[in-house]
Amino acid sequence: MAVTCRLQCLLTETTTGQQREGSYPDANFNLAHLKSFIQKLEAAKFDAFFMADHLAVLNMPTEALKRSHTTTSFEPFTLLSALSQVTERIGLAATASTTYDEPYHIARRFASLDHLSNGRAAWNIVTTGNPESSKNFGQEEHMQHNDRYKRAREFYDVVTGLWDSFADDAFVRDQESGTYLDPDKMHVLNHSGDELKVRGPLNIARPVQGWPVIVQAGQSEPGRQLAAETAEMVFCSPKDLKSAKELYADIKGRAAAAGRNRDHIRILPAGMIIIGDSAEDAQAKRLKLDSLVHYDSAISSLSIALGTDASGFDPDAPLPIDLPPTNASHTARASVLRLAEEEQLTVRQLAQRPASPNFPISSKVKNQT
Ligand SMILES: Cc1cc2nc3c(=O)[nH]c(=O)nc-3n(C[C@H](O)[C@H](O)[C@H](O)COP(=O)(O)O)c2cc1C
Repeated sequence: MAVTCRLQCLLTETTTGQQREGSYPDANFNLAHLKSFIQKLEAAKFDAFFMADHLAVLNMPTEALKRSHTTTSFEPFTLLSALSQVTERIGLAATASTTYDEPYHIARRFASLDHLSNGRAAWNIVTTGNPESSKNFGQEEHMQHNDRYKRAREFYDVVTGLWDSFADDAFVRDQESGTYLDPDKMHVLNHSGDELKVRGPLNIARPVQGWPVIVQAGQSEPGRQLAAETAEMVFCSPKDLKSAKELYADIKGRAAAAGRNRDHIRILPAGMIIIGDSAEDAQAKRLKLDSLVHYDSAISSLSIALGTDASGFDPDAPLPIDLPPTNASHTARASVLRLAEEEQLTVRQLAQRPASPNFPISSKVKNQT
């Protein structure tokens, strides 16, 4: 079983940090804390540490923004490079966007991280859920959902092609002859496609792993297809066993149809673990955490997940059924809608769930000792 820790668990600590005794209000931005945290994860044999990225301060009203840890966050490659030097075995996964970056940059950064960490880098391919990101990259509008995935698929081919720029033994570094590189072992990509044009070669040796591990996290229709064609690990947040099984079978089936070995993909469902002396104790802790979330923060998280402003909705009524279409994450909206319907929640109850709506909501952990 693969187990990955997302920085999210630290962020939950930050969200409620002002109120919860013993928590770190700057948990996501405190290098000493992050170092000790990743070292604990490594000692506990976690497979990987994951750093998400959203390329913008989240799109929320000032009243919510002023309570949000997302207003300051380390850039993933810089942080993971630092953490690679205080760990030895744990995987280092970073989000990098195919919508707002260039394949040459991404290929190079992951190759660097893979060399610095001696083969521990992983790339979470995202098309970027936050539509506000476009404003930071010279574009008025977020690229359309299908177009983002079309570019992502080609982007993957270019990045992996660039990683193959040099054979593993291309760098002979022969001091006697003064030869550094065997040019016969250098490959120039010369990619010219619908979305991207990249000559290559990459100016860094082939990554230690060959290709760093590929992760994918979008569960919309084109997201699943991208995962099936490219991913080795799939992050997901199914709400129950039935939908987890459906997603599992769907992605593995698509992978087989694309000519891949279905066993080469690991599906990692997200979980938020609350530990207590009994199920009741854990449940009470969860309720306490939920209650610490300010309504301004809650309603803005709900708006982000829905991809539409929920602040005008009646807090004590069910979610309106006629929401406008969204160009943000389809997965996040679908899971909120499902939750609202299944548990018949009001807008206030739905918004008050403090974990990312991408994550399963109820958590019970029974102490076995
Ligand atoms: C564990 C996990 C991590 C994620 N990390 C990111 C991230 O760092 N950046 C991001 O824009 N989206 C992130 N997402 C959201 C998905 O990538 C999101 O679904 C996607 O951006 C939109 O694609 P979709 O419409 O196919 O769902 C994450 C999702 C999950 C389940």
